[in-house]
Amino acid sequence: MINKTVLVTGGAGFIGSHLVRHLATKYPHYLVINLDLLTYAGNLTNLVDVADRDNYRFVRADIRDAEALRQVFAGFPIDTVVHLAAESHVDRSIEEPLTFVQTNLIGTAQLLQVAREVWHENFAGKLFYHISTDEVYGSLDATGLFTETTGYAPRSPYAASKAGSDHLVRAWHHTYSMPVVLSNCSNNYGPNQFPEKLIPLCINNILHQQPLPVYGKGVNVRDWLYVEDHVRAIDLILHRGRSGETYNIGGHNEWRNIDLVHLLCQTMDRKLGRAPGSSERLITYVTDRAGHDLRYAIDATKLERELGWVPDVRFEEGIVRTVDWYLSNAAWVAGVTSGAYRDYYAAMYAHR
Ligand SMILES: NC(=O)c1ccc[n+]([C@@H]2O[C@H](COP(=O)([O-])OP(=O)(O)OC[C@H]3O[C@@H](n4cnc5c(N)ncnc54)[C@H](O)[C@@H]3O)[C@@H](O)[C@H]2O)c1
Repeated sequence: MINKTVLVTGGAGFIGSHLVRHLATKYPHYLVINLDLLTYAGNLTNLVDVADRDNYRFVRADIRDAEALRQVFAGFPIDTVVHLAAESHVDRSIEEPLTFVQTNLIGTAQLLQVAREVWHENFAGKLFYHISTDEVYGSLDATGLFTETTGYAPRSPYAASKAGSDHLVRAWHHTYSMPVVLSNCSNNYGPNQFPEKLIPLCINNILHQQPLPVYGKGVNVRDWLYVEDHVRAIDLILHRGRSGETYNIGGHNEWRNIDLVHLLCQTMDRKLGRAPGSSERLITYVTDRAGHDLRYAIDATKLERELGWVPDVRFEEGIVRTVDWYLSNAAWVAGVTSGAYRDYYAAMYAHR
């Protein structure tokens, strides 16, 4: 008996697919609707194991298209939205910033507006949960942590578009009393991440003995969190987060990019039986990313204090799991790199 209908936007992407699987399997009495446009980053082969579940539906739609959103809300009694759909890659945002403004800002505004309209401003039992990033806070020096009260200072078009979307969600809360929660998370890693992002890119390049591009001197610091730990935090915030509040999510796990690349080289050499040090020879320093933020680090105390969340997966363990996943899912990587993953939608859904 279904007692909650959750619309997950961006559910075919990296984090979204882990979240959809988690919600659909842990809560069989929830109907989970995965709304995704299937851009280059959306990959339904991430979800083959849940595709036939009775409490799962996939809808191909664009969050920028209000009419398409209205149809989805008309088709299902949606009471909860978990909004992940976004353009998510900083480098792409430098190349094509307006795509990020369209999807992350306009798309979020359309979704908020349609939810408000469909819910008739009768918000009892409703929730709009917006998934965001620590990049909205800008860049840290060698010390300090981002808290929920750190001022916004986004510096890339990606970060600025996400920051703007956070403001829109809060505006709908303050102006229309829509129940909302937000979370801002640090860098995620794990299975199913598109191999344009640092960790899967390095794994793939080490495997094929291709150069490992490292920006600048490799001293930029990121706080890494295993994707399943992020999903557990989302689950807690979804069910127990206080309306109107923001929660920071982070791994207490800061790594300089160059140290991370060394760790990946060592892990891969061990796994592949290669001589120690052989993959490190692939490291290639490239011109730094424009406006590259030096350091991100999250203070997740509020989430720990209020909801008892702490990360489960130690980084050294998470990296081994991730490397193992990529090594045993060569077909997934090949499908993504060749573009063949796009055929899956046509084969599975085009006739429905
Ligand atoms: N990856 C991270 O490290 C990280 C960290 C913190 C927060 N986030 C946030 O989490 C969310 C998911 O990130 P991810 O890494 O899984 O991203 P992703 O790029 O892997 O997935 C994004 C998904 O959104 C879909 N999408 C894009 N434009 C759309 C549109 N117009 N309409 C409908 N669907 C559309 C894509 O098809 C894709 O499936 C994003 O909002 C991102 O800002 C990501």
